[in-house]
Amino acid sequence: MSKQQIRFGVIGLGLMGREFASAAARWMHLLNLDVEPVITGICDSNPALFDWFAANFPSIQIKTGDYHDLLNSDQIDAIYCAVPHNLHQQFYIDIIAAGKHLLGEKPFGIDRAANAAILDAINAHPEVLVRCSSELPFYPGGQRILQSIKENRFGKIIEVEAGFLHSSDIDPNKPINWKRMIDINGEYGCMGDLGMHVFHIPLRAGWQPKNVRAALSNIVTERFNKDGVKVPCATWDNAILLCDVESEQHGSFPMTLKTYRIAPGETNTWYINIYGTEQSVRFSTRQPKSYYTMDYKSGARQTWNEESLGYTSAYPTITGGIFEFGFSDSILQMWAAFCDEVAHGRGGMQQSFYCATPEETAAHHAVLTAALESHKRQSVVTI
Ligand SMILES: NC(=O)c1ccc[n+]([C@@H]2O[C@H](COP(=O)([O-])OP(=O)(O)OC[C@H]3O[C@@H](n4cnc5c(N)ncnc54)[C@H](O)[C@@H]3O)[C@@H](O)[C@H]2O)c1
Repeated sequence: MSKQQIRFGVIGLGLMGREFASAAARWMHLLNLDVEPVITGICDSNPALFDWFAANFPSIQIKTGDYHDLLNSDQIDAIYCAVPHNLHQQFYIDIIAAGKHLLGEKPFGIDRAANAAILDAINAHPEVLVRCSSELPFYPGGQRILQSIKENRFGKIIEVEAGFLHSSDIDPNKPINWKRMIDINGEYGCMGDLGMHVFHIPLRAGWQPKNVRAALSNIVTERFNKDGVKVPCATWDNAILLCDVESEQHGSFPMTLKTYRIAPGETNTWYINIYGTEQSVRFSTRQPKSYYTMDYKSGARQTWNEESLGYTSAYPTITGGIFEFGFSDSILQMWAAFCDEVAHGRGGMQQSFYCATPEETAAHHAVLTAALESHKRQSVVTI
C-alpha cells in the first residue's frame, strides 16, 4: 500500500516532542493506515536537543531555533507544537496563519483570552486542521467508556467522576520548573496542565458543566530553583471541581473533576467513572487492563465485573490482542487519528474517535476560568 506522507515540523523538542518523534519512528506498528508522518523540520531554543533527533531521523532537513523557519518552509505540511503555555497563543496563531495543520498541546492558550485568540485564527483559516493533543482516551479502557456512552445503558446517570493524578510534587526538594511558575504555566496551575485530559471524554459526550464550585490548594508554596535558592511556588497543586451537568441525551447529574499534582502514590493516573441506576462503568490507567462494569436490575445483587481488556486499539496494529497497552501506544493512536483526519477529513476517517477539537479546548477554558472565580469568591459560578 502506498502511503500519503504528511511532512511534519516539531516545535519544542522536550518531553512531548520526543514522544511524538518516537511514535513517528514506529509507524510500521500500525496496520492498514494509508498515511504516515515524516519529520522534516525541528525547532527548539535549546540546540543541545537537536542531536537525538538528528541521530534518529535522517528525514530532517531543517534544524532551527526560530520556528518561523519551519513556517516559511515548503518542506512542511503540518506542525506538532509542544512548548510552554505562555508561548501557545503566538506560536499557534503564526502556525495557523502560515497554512500548516496543527496538533497543539494543551491547555491551548495560557488562559481563556489566549484560547479565544487562537480560535479566531482558526476561524480565519478553515483550510487547516487544528486539534489539541489528548491521548489518554485512546487507551482501550477509554475507548470502552466512549462505547458505553454511545450505548447509553446507564439508566439515569447518578454521577460522573474523572481525574488525572500525579504525586511527584509531594517531594519538597523537587526543584521548581516552568510548570510551577504562574507567568509561564498560567493562573490555572494544575488545572491547565492536566485539565484537558480530564475534560476530553465528558465534553465529547456533551457533558458541558453549567456551573462549578472549585476547591484549589497550593500545598508546597516554596521550591528550590536551579541555583539552590528557595523561591515562591504559587501555582495550584490540586483542584477539585464539582459541576452540575445538564445533557440532552443523559439528563442532569453532578460531575466531579480532579486534577492533582499531589495525590500520594499516583503516577499519571487518568480515570473516569460513570455511575448509573442500571449500569455503571469504571476505568483507570492505574489498572490499565481492567474495565469494570456493573449491571443492575431491581432486587439483583450489586456486583462489579472485571474484564481484562488486552490490546484493543482504535487503529489496528501488529500487537496481538493478548498483550498490554501503554502510554506510548496511546500517543501512537492519537497521532494515527490526527494524520487520518488530515488525510481524509472527519467523515473519511477509519474510525470515529477524533482528537480533541479547538471548540472542546474553549469549553474547558470556560470551566477553568470559572473555577478560578469560584475559588476566589468561595461560591458557585455559572458557566
Ligand atoms: N499530552 C500530554 O500528555 C502532555 C504531557 C506533558 C506536557 N504536555 C504539554 O506539552 C507542552 C510542552 O510540555 P513538555 O512537558 O514537553 O515541556 P518541556 O519543557 O519538556 O519542553 C518544552 C520545550 O520547548 C522549548 N522551548 C521553549 N521556548 C521555546 C522557543 N521560544 N522556541 C522553541 N522552543 C522553545 C524548550 O527548550 C523545551 O525543549 C505543554 O503545553 C504541556 O502542557 C502534554
